[in-house]
Amino acid sequence: MTTPLIIDCDPGVDDAVMLMMALASPALDVRAITTVAGNVPLHLTSRNARMMCQLMDRPDVPVFAGCSRPILRTPVTAEDFHGESGIAGLDPFEPDTPLATGHGVVHLMETLRAAAPGEYTIIVTGPMTNIAAALVLDPSIARGISRLILMAGADTEGGNITPFAEFNVFADPHAAAIVMDSGIPATVLSLDVTHTVRAEPERIAQLKALKAPKAPIMVNLLEAANDLESRWKEGLKAPMHDPSTIAFLLAPHLFGTRPARVTVVTDSGEVFGQTRPAPMAGGPHDWVTAADADGFFQLIEDLLEKS
Ligand code: RIB
Ligand code: CA
Repeated sequence: MTTPLIIDCDPGVDDAVMLMMALASPALDVRAITTVAGNVPLHLTSRNARMMCQLMDRPDVPVFAGCSRPILRTPVTAEDFHGESGIAGLDPFEPDTPLATGHGVVHLMETLRAAAPGEYTIIVTGPMTNIAAALVLDPSIARGISRLILMAGADTEGGNITPFAEFNVFADPHAAAIVMDSGIPATVLSLDVTHTVRAEPERIAQLKALKAPKAPIMVNLLEAANDLESRWKEGLKAPMHDPSTIAFLLAPHLFGTRPARVTVVTDSGEVFGQTRPAPMAGGPHDWVTAADADGFFQLIEDLLEKS
């Protein structure tokens, strides 16, 4: 029984690693990818998502371009951590398969309107602009979603683009607030957990030893991510932010969670974009608190060997 999935992302080097995992997994039925402006502008996130489908021999997965800017705030990008192309580590190329026809937000709405109750899991690894816009246009689409799995926010770890805010939420806090307030069940993988799983050299060495034909692509991405991360974060290795969403979906036993109700600061000021995961028994959100990094990378190895 595979899990019907829509992935909304802003590739982005770690989004690209996440897409490799999702597209390699026989357990996931990736019905579509929708892209959003985030790490780099929309035309690049959309090209990069299509590149990953081609590199993973998955031309069957349509890529729909979504929103080109946040709902309200001025746009921010993150080329420092992803390169000007957004796909550092790979030589960009124009993919054979064009963008799918239609706006990503419209595709989300039409797909979820036609879905059975709880049919889809939605992965979001960029600013939440697309899913928020779809929910504003038609709140009834929530019926078609069983769970959101979000790479978003921070609490004990503090922010990565300001001392208080994580990039995906900071880039569109109003969208994040709409999603968190929607009542849709969500698993939230924040910096609190992604900073505990990093692309350490010994882990990359294990990937290099694989005979899997697609392993070199992931090695190139992770080595580029480490090069960029170490330039800005005093030698630290790249956190596995977006890949954690797929790891959670495929192997939830590798993670610890606590029930919560996450709110987002949308008032301008020092803590603009901060996430606050208030403990709440029976709350709509599962705030992920821990990860088994060894198990995480074993999962990546297993997926590469399947691809
Ligand atoms: O803060 C990390 C998140 O911001 C990741 O999704 C990364 O791709 C960037 O979008
Ligand atoms: Ca991302």
